[in-house]
This record gives sequence, C-alpha cells and structure tokens, in this order.
Amino acid sequence: MKDVLNGVKSSINRRKFVKNGLTAASAATMGVGLLASSSSAFAKNGPEEHSGSLTKGDAAILRFLAAAEILETDLWQQYNELGGIQDSEVPGGSGNSVYTAALAVLDSDMAQYIHDNTEDELTHEVFINAFLASNGADTVNLDQFRTLPSSKASGAQQIGRLTNLMQLTVDTSWWTRYRVGNKNPDFGDTFDQAVPTLNVGQHPAIPRTDDDLTPNDHIQAIANTAGFHFGTIEQGGTSLYPSLAQRVTHPDVLRIVLSIGPTEAMHFQTWSDKAGNAPALTDPKDSTLVFPDLNSPPLGGEEFQTNLIMPEPTIFLSRSLPACSIVRPTATKGAAMGALKFLTAMGLFIGQSPAFFQLLTDLAEDADAAKNGRA
Ligand SMILES: [Fe+2]
Ligand SMILES: [Fe+2]
Repeated sequence: MKDVLNGVKSSINRRKFVKNGLTAASAATMGVGLLASSSSAFAKNGPEEHSGSLTKGDAAILRFLAAAEILETDLWQQYNELGGIQDSEVPGGSGNSVYTAALAVLDSDMAQYIHDNTEDELTHEVFINAFLASNGADTVNLDQFRTLPSSKASGAQQIGRLTNLMQLTVDTSWWTRYRVGNKNPDFGDTFDQAVPTLNVGQHPAIPRTDDDLTPNDHIQAIANTAGFHFGTIEQGGTSLYPSLAQRVTHPDVLRIVLSIGPTEAMHFQTWSDKAGNAPALTDPKDSTLVFPDLNSPPLGGEEFQTNLIMPEPTIFLSRSLPACSIVRPTATKGAAMGALKFLTAMGLFIGQSPAFFQLLTDLAEDADAAKNGRA
C-alpha cells in the first residue's frame, strides 16, 4: 500500500489520471448516479477543484478533513453495527451480542461510547462538506469507493464499505508516547509498542463471521484489538486537527478546526482509558497475538500504570523550554500525507482500488500545499 502512495509521480499527472480515470470507470461500471454531485471533488475535469469564497488552501485543508471524516465514519459505523447501540441516530446494524459482551469487558459503557463516537464522526463529515458547499467550494464524496465487503457475522449490514477492519496492523505506540516525559515525535523520537504483536501481521478488530465468536478468548482478542484500534484512530485525529490548523486562514475555518479537533481528543482519552482494561491473553486461534499485562514489565511502574491516562508533560518546540502537557505530534509540514500514510499502513484500505489511493493522495497533497494566507 505504501508503494501505491509513494509511487505516484507528479501532481499534475496524478490529478489528470484520477479525474479522467474515475470518470471513465464510473461511466463504464458504476453508472452516473454514483457521481452524486456535479460539485463533488472528483466529478470535475478542470485543472483544480473550486474553492468558492474560501482560499484555495482553506478549501483544500477542509476537503482533506472531510475525506478523513468520511473514512472515520465508515469504520466507526462498522464497529457500531456489531458492538454499539443501534438507534435512529446511528442506524444500520442489529448488534452482535457476543462481540458486544467482549467489548464490555473493557468497560460496561463501551456500546454507548462506540455509538457516540460514530455519531460524532458523521456530524464532522456532514458539517465540513456543508460548510464547503455553503461557501461555493467543491465537496468530497467517496461513495463510488464503497466496494469493500462487510463482516459476515450476525449483526452487520451487508453493504459496501470504504474501510477494512478485518486485516489491521495496529500501531499502539501512542500508549507510551503520551506517557513518556522526555520524548516527542516532532523531535524524531520513537516509542515502544504497548502490544507489539498487534503492530505486526494482520488482525481482525470485528468478527469476520460467526466462527470468530468462539472460543471466548478469541472474540476477546478481537475486542481487545478494537479497543486499541479505537485509541489509535482517535489519537490520529487529535494530532491532525492542530497540525492543519496552523495553516488555515479564515477565522471561521480556524474556528472549525479548533472546535472539532478537541472532540477527537475527548474520544482519544476515553479510548486510552478503556484500552488499559483489555485483559491479558493469547488468541487461541492466532498464537502470535498476545495481549500483555500492561502493568508488568517491560511496561508497568509509575510511568506506565494503566490508570495514568492524562498526557505526561514533555519537550515541546525547544528542549530549552520547560516540559509541557501537550498533544503530540503537531508539526504541520506534511501532516495530511502523514495521516494518509498512517491510515494506509494500518491496513484500513486493504482491497481499495488504485484510483482510491490516488484521489486520497491528491487531496492530501493539496492540503499540505496550503500556506497560511497565501494559498
Ligand atoms: Fe472526526
Ligand atoms: Fe475521530
């Protein structure tokens, strides 16, 4: 997947390919109805998307965030159908009682939190696109890429998905990143994994079929994987918004990113707390997947105890300044592409088409080209 992102040559050629390619593909195989709006980003054949009354940079940053929120909504919807609360706010699934019970081992309110996180992402997606449209700017619509299979386990809708929750490689280094007081990823520092075996191989975070519901420790391993993946996703949003906020121009756009971003942090801290309750076990159907006791070496101790869920103060901006309790990373250079690579590396898009990656790369590069007040 990384090769797909890295192998693209020039912005101009990519843009031409994406737009022409999508238009041709849609006409040939998907029908014109899937290009839902003449103002959606890839329905245009012109050289650039429209920015309306926004600066080009503000519109590009908001379009990348809209795409990220559409993808977040898609993955959270899958979690909610199987492990959350189905209601009119987040309709679609019918729930899976075994998976829901395994998630509840982490916290009895997990189903409610999954529901609420899902609803929040949906509102982020809808709001950002509506704001773009209200300013005459092109919006983002990824509907034609809803082609990945749903879980076949009881409770899931059988519809096409944008994201794949059944082959994840979960980076759990946020667990240590927020607990270490003398390192910061913006200084090039790296961090140990909380669950090293989740960060290699491919693991389901939702039951793939009802065969995944037994034995008990297997579905618990899947629920534990979800519990860490929730934190992995939401810490990404927690960093992405402040990273991109540094390059927006219009006061309303700044207000949007400053108001949505902290809700991602609220999600992250909730999930950081719940992940610490994931029971230690080895997956009986995959002996390579081991959830350690997080209160024992190599973690554990005062620095890593699982009930310490607030950010440890660390170095920020300059090593000569005093330690500060902060979100990290927040460097703005390349933040959108970094987020896309992070999501791709976790396997979230396994099965997606080259056109999908090229469109997302295009949106990320446009967002990263934005310069405060000048683009
Ligand atoms: Fe969000
Ligand atoms: Fe989020």
